[in-house]
Amino acid sequence: MVSEATVLQALRGIRDPEAQQDIVTLGLVRDLRIADAEVSFTLAFTTQSPQAKVTMHTMASRLVGQLPGVSRVQVKMGGGAREPAAAPAHGHGPAKSAELIPEVRHTVAVSSGKGGVGKSTVAVNLAVTLSETGGAVGIIDSDVYGPDVPLMLGARGRPGMFENRIIPVEVHGLKMMSIGLLVNEREPLVWRGPMIHSFIQQMLRDVMWGALDYLVFDMPPGTGDAQLSLSQVIPLDGVVMVTTPQEVALLDVRKAIGMFQKLNVPLLGVVENMSYFVAPDTGRRYDIFGEGGGRRLAEEYGIPLLAQIPLDPETRIGGDEGSPIVLRRPDSPQAKVFGDLARAVRARLDELAALERLPKIS
Ligand SMILES: Nc1ncnc2c1ncn2[C@@H]1O[C@H](COP(=O)(O)OP(=O)(O)O)[C@@H](O)[C@H]1O
Ligand SMILES: [Mg+2]
Repeated sequence: MVSEATVLQALRGIRDPEAQQDIVTLGLVRDLRIADAEVSFTLAFTTQSPQAKVTMHTMASRLVGQLPGVSRVQVKMGGGAREPAAAPAHGHGPAKSAELIPEVRHTVAVSSGKGGVGKSTVAVNLAVTLSETGGAVGIIDSDVYGPDVPLMLGARGRPGMFENRIIPVEVHGLKMMSIGLLVNEREPLVWRGPMIHSFIQQMLRDVMWGALDYLVFDMPPGTGDAQLSLSQVIPLDGVVMVTTPQEVALLDVRKAIGMFQKLNVPLLGVVENMSYFVAPDTGRRYDIFGEGGGRRLAEEYGIPLLAQIPLDPETRIGGDEGSPIVLRRPDSPQAKVFGDLARAVRARLDELAALERLPKIS
């Protein structure tokens, strides 16, 4: 079991940027409790800026989460000496969505076997389309290796604080939080399981999401520590798997599908991105990355092929410039494909929810 001294020593590494002293010396750390591998404490903030509070809170959960023998960290935020309004106590194991985010109706992850296949592009455009076609939508950028969502949405704001909770950034009608908003961009980060656990708990429990119809997660690529930890902690209603048509991408996506199956996360279906390119001058279609991979994968697992998204320079530019293609070119073929994808995701979630309600025969 980790000792109190070790925890405090780790927390001494965090300085209050305004007071220029570490948070232990300043007496901000209160109610430190250690029970087996679980550590909890309160940061008794006073007049710190919202940004400073968010940063110190994140660093505190990260630093303590990295300590050997710690599997779970709960950092409460208290004003002065007051205890914060009773935060619900969490038991062992992954918390249920009903506990962490009771006002969120559906949680959807966008995942893939590898990076660069268009996960963030799909997550962002899907979220915007879901919100445009009716519904309150949030998006959590949990790609610890490349948090691109703020850039792709063109979000300039920073998260604020209200009554010790984090207010998500509002952009294009979405509520958004990103791991990229909480860490220093130049600071190289090696994310380990426990840090990811505490990060995602913070994203769910400490952020004021309010009532949402859909909360979309942009997941990190691969089947490593990060993806696995997140999938265990996030209460997911389903996952959309993004792939490109060629065989090498399929190998990785199969591994990722296997991981979600083991964790009992329902597969909503496959999105084949960069499926083909239509030359604007001749109208001819080119299968740049091969052909048919998405359909083969969907058939192999008996799940729907939700969409085939063409390669399109404007989609890339939209991502780089922070104006998602569905808003930038609402009448384009791209936007139509995302419209179909959003409808398919909605239908699939309703279908799975209906299956849940059926009586089980054992
Ligand atoms: N259908 C598409 N057409 C053109 N460019 C795309 C398409 N999908 C993604 N891109 C571009 O490819 C790059 C990688 O996509 P991204 O969404 O960041 O992938 P990932 O999140 O899987 O790493 C980005 O520059 C993005 O704008
Ligand atoms: Mg990405």
